Amino acid sequence: MYIDEDKIKEHLEKRPFRLISEVAEHLGTETYVIGGYVRDLFLRRPSKDIDIVVIGSGIEFAKAVASRLGRGARLSVFKTFGTAQVKSGDFEIEFVGARKESYSHDSRKPVVEDGTLEDDQNRRDFTINALALCLNGERYGELVDPFGGLEDMERLIIRTPCDPDITFSDDPLRMMRAVRFASQLGFSIDPETFEAIERNVSRIEIVSKERVIDELDKIILSPKPSVGFELLDQCGLLPLIFPELCALRGAETKEGIGHKDNFAHTLMVLDRLSKNSDNLWLRWSALLHDIGKPAVKRFEKRLGWTFHNHDFIGERMIPGIFRKMKLPMNEKMKYVQKMVRLHMRPIALADDEVADSAVRRLLFDAGDDIDDLMTLCEADITSKNPEKVRRFLNNFRLVREKLAVIEEKDRIRNFQPPVSGEEIMKTFGLQPSRPVGVIKEAIKEAILDGVIPNEYEAARQFMFERAARLGLKPV
Ligand code: CTP
Repeated sequence: MYIDEDKIKEHLEKRPFRLISEVAEHLGTETYVIGGYVRDLFLRRPSKDIDIVVIGSGIEFAKAVASRLGRGARLSVFKTFGTAQVKSGDFEIEFVGARKESYSHDSRKPVVEDGTLEDDQNRRDFTINALALCLNGERYGELVDPFGGLEDMERLIIRTPCDPDITFSDDPLRMMRAVRFASQLGFSIDPETFEAIERNVSRIEIVSKERVIDELDKIILSPKPSVGFELLDQCGLLPLIFPELCALRGAETKEGIGHKDNFAHTLMVLDRLSKNSDNLWLRWSALLHDIGKPAVKRFEKRLGWTFHNHDFIGERMIPGIFRKMKLPMNEKMKYVQKMVRLHMRPIALADDEVADSAVRRLLFDAGDDIDDLMTLCEADITSKNPEKVRRFLNNFRLVREKLAVIEEKDRIRNFQPPVSGEEIMKTFGLQPSRPVGVIKEAIKEAILDGVIPNEYEAARQFMFERAARLGLKPV
């Protein structure tokens, strides 16, 4: 399954490794490629960011590499961190001197001292991220793996190289990273490592929201995101970073009537959607589509459990969630809000008798996002009854066909009414005022209801009729 050592050596023949090796010989410095790049090489995952550790000064080494690369290379030096970066062509190489780190209790900022390769590997988060390949002469391509990282890779295990309580309290973001790697790579977390996460969850509060979101996004983008969310829930991180999602947990029963566990349902929808879309924001929409349910949940004598208006309440909750989690409060958020607001609409259209006007309205409201919305709604069918699933999916197919026909005929997607406010004002000698809005809105409604076609002449005619009812005459 994994790449063998010959393949690794072959890979290291490529640029820029030979060049780095020449610099290493020239300066007489022990040099290794280390961390995520080596892990991904073994896992055959594409990776561009190369981390190089030298036993000495990373900055001096980077300068030598940059000067050998010549004009094509860009060097950036980060003196305070003792690191330097060289960018050239399609690779980015980070150089650092091997170090020993110790952390103070209330911050992620380490106190750094020079160290050996082993010290450097010791301070890393997981055994699979602590692998190093030597780039020096005789030892070129030799794997240095003091913690059994290769074996863990074969056993699909995430495990810390040292005492996990120390690894996680040194940098609590690593708890999120453990879950993220498990979800992204399909690995399990070693029981001792997992128990240490359970003990240390409260330390996540010293980590910035941006870094947490970065990991959460990677979990959402992983092949089966439920793996990550179940782990976050089990270890106790989820209530701290995303309490609104935890509130979906649970299935209550009253008078013999139960409702589904909306947490499990949400994760199922997210997994189903992820098979058809790698759009991060559509995946966020799946995660949040039922977020309004706990707030509106009622037990009604005749109806049983209801979640009226959970789509609108969910839409309204989103800015608060985005603000708190430091997610972008821009058109990405608006898109998620739109998906959540509209997620019940196609299902209402999936009856046998679908009025054209209802399809036209959906097309108008969703605009270019209509296909994404349909993908979300299809993923939302998680019933265990195969007959029901078949019927819904078939009805969605009909809705998609209807959407295509109406789109072709009426060009409703992102449509602007064919008569502008400007034209209304000019025709009736009006200043910007309420009647202008009333007439414009009436034209839009008439088109969406199919009273008139989406064409200029028909719209202009309709404008005259509507204006006459308001007692307006053309000038
Ligand atoms: N690392 C660590 N603790 C962290 C972050 C990083 O020990 N909190 C170490 C790991 O050895 C990791 C390396 O630094 O492999 C590089 O980190 P980074 O580039 O953030 O992540 P990758 O492991 O390369 O993974 P990805 O690119 O998928 O984020």
